[in-house]
Amino acid sequence: MPLAFADKSLLAEKLHLDGATEPLEILRKGLALIDGPVALASSFSMEDIVIIDLLQSIDRPVRIFAIDTGRLNEETLEIAETIRLRYGIEIDWYFPDREAVEKLERKKGLFSFRESLENRHECCHIRKVEPLQRALKGLSGWITGQRREQAATRGELPPIEADQVNGDILKLNPLAFWSEQQVKDYIKEQRLPINRLHHMGYPSIGCAPCTRAVQPGEDPRAGRWWWESPEHKECGLHKR
Ligand code: ADX
Ligand code: SF4
Repeated sequence: MPLAFADKSLLAEKLHLDGATEPLEILRKGLALIDGPVALASSFSMEDIVIIDLLQSIDRPVRIFAIDTGRLNEETLEIAETIRLRYGIEIDWYFPDREAVEKLERKKGLFSFRESLENRHECCHIRKVEPLQRALKGLSGWITGQRREQAATRGELPPIEADQVNGDILKLNPLAFWSEQQVKDYIKEQRLPINRLHHMGYPSIGCAPCTRAVQPGEDPRAGRWWWESPEHKECGLHKR
């Protein structure tokens, strides 16, 4: 029987207080709380690749979905294919609604997101949020590669939360407590392939026209929507 939101919040809090901080432990404990189907949302960042690797040691089917916004870097598509072949997995790709993109591009051009925050949110809604909503339909839980350290907006990210925005399903953030160095160490130890953009100064990877490399020591999300202030650097995939 599916858990009511209040039960899920309690369980989530309990799990949080239990002090699970290691990704595999969060995955195991979190998945045990979810009865129905669960999927990992993957942008094929280093973080998502670590989770895909960890999932191999867990005895529970977890689908992997990815949103092709239509504006991803070629390097991102290449690593997605490398990962698909390496693990022999299927990736459920989701595309934005064709008519919505056609309408947006005809009316506002190809770079409307640079003109205002409102336009940027409109593009992110069409290209990311609406496909996400379709991807989450029928799921009891989803997994993300978010980390606390990544952004001002993620400083208190819990390892598990009830996702009220998406129908009260559970959301696991197994890497919530890991630093970028821990992610890199895992990648190195396990000899995992990563997106070539990470070697070119991109700690965070999104759509090509909205992401650029950062300088050493700069905020890891400074290259995302670099023309906006830090508190706006979210695309709506992870609304609370
Ligand atoms: S975003 O909200 O700013 O775009 P970010 O790039 O930090 O998110 O990624 C955080 C997590 O969101 C990823 O680890 C992944 O779980 C999910 N995610 C981001 N982009 C996508 C995508 N295109 N397809 C599927 N999941 C994604
Ligand atoms: Fe559009 Fe940029 Fe958002 Fe991608 S990141 S959906 S191109 S505004």
